[in-house]
Amino acid sequence: MGPNNSDGSAMQEPELVVCRDPDELASQAASRIAQLASQSVATRGRFTCALTGGSTPRATYQRLAAGAKIDWTRAFWFFGDERFVPPDDARSNYKMANEALLGVAPIRADHVFPIPTTDGTPAECAARYARSLQSFFETSEGQPPVLDLVLLGMGDDGHVASLFPHAPSLSITDATVVSSPPGTLPPPVDRITITFGVINAARQVLFLIAGDNKARALSDVWRRRASLDERPAAGVRPTSGHLTWMVDRAAASLMEADNSKS
Ligand code: 6PG
Repeated sequence: MGPNNSDGSAMQEPELVVCRDPDELASQAASRIAQLASQSVATRGRFTCALTGGSTPRATYQRLAAGAKIDWTRAFWFFGDERFVPPDDARSNYKMANEALLGVAPIRADHVFPIPTTDGTPAECAARYARSLQSFFETSEGQPPVLDLVLLGMGDDGHVASLFPHAPSLSITDATVVSSPPGTLPPPVDRITITFGVINAARQVLFLIAGDNKARALSDVWRRRASLDERPAAGVRPTSGHLTWMVDRAAASLMEADNSKS
């Protein structure tokens, strides 16, 4: 019996894909993203994707740029979160994604929507990004846009995007994008992040998780042993969309161990 939504409707069962290593994870993720892009373009005439930051997704983005069969003219690229640093700062998620994908594949600049991190406070920049989502997706204020795909990583502490354990942002439901003070993991800079409403409205959510440092948090979340407050990844429960956990064996190691006990 799968989990239910608060209105009692049945959530789709999440899909688990365990890859041999980060290399296989990157190639499997790239082909899944390309497949979802083609389906979205065929069905709705466009593909809208929120990229995640950190280091895990870089290899996936490089593979997409190197040869994914995506109709780049119909794909639009957003960000799930950003560090409050200039776009050319080594810690910038935009810089990483631009070097690996956005500045490499034939993507027009007006198809890329970076989170602003200059000309204002983190809260002002978050509100500006919320307005740009509202305008692109033609939603009303505070109404979560429906993206075709939200990519997520997960920190060792179970955070997703920049939704950190015990942070006030975890319970915000009346804003699509908020600012957040640094979490406990580096880099210790303010963040801007989409909220759970946007993540859980997506048609597809794809986690990319690799490394044994993620094993404890992943096992806690997968076996529903931790609250959303302790492991924010537990809050990723798409209302009607499809959730896929794409992980490598190292990240899944405690899950397999736990399964052997059951
Ligand atoms: C960020 C990311 C963040 C990331 C996790 C996992 O701004 O750092 O958006 O949410 O996905 O921290 O990062 P790694 O994949 O590098 O471990």
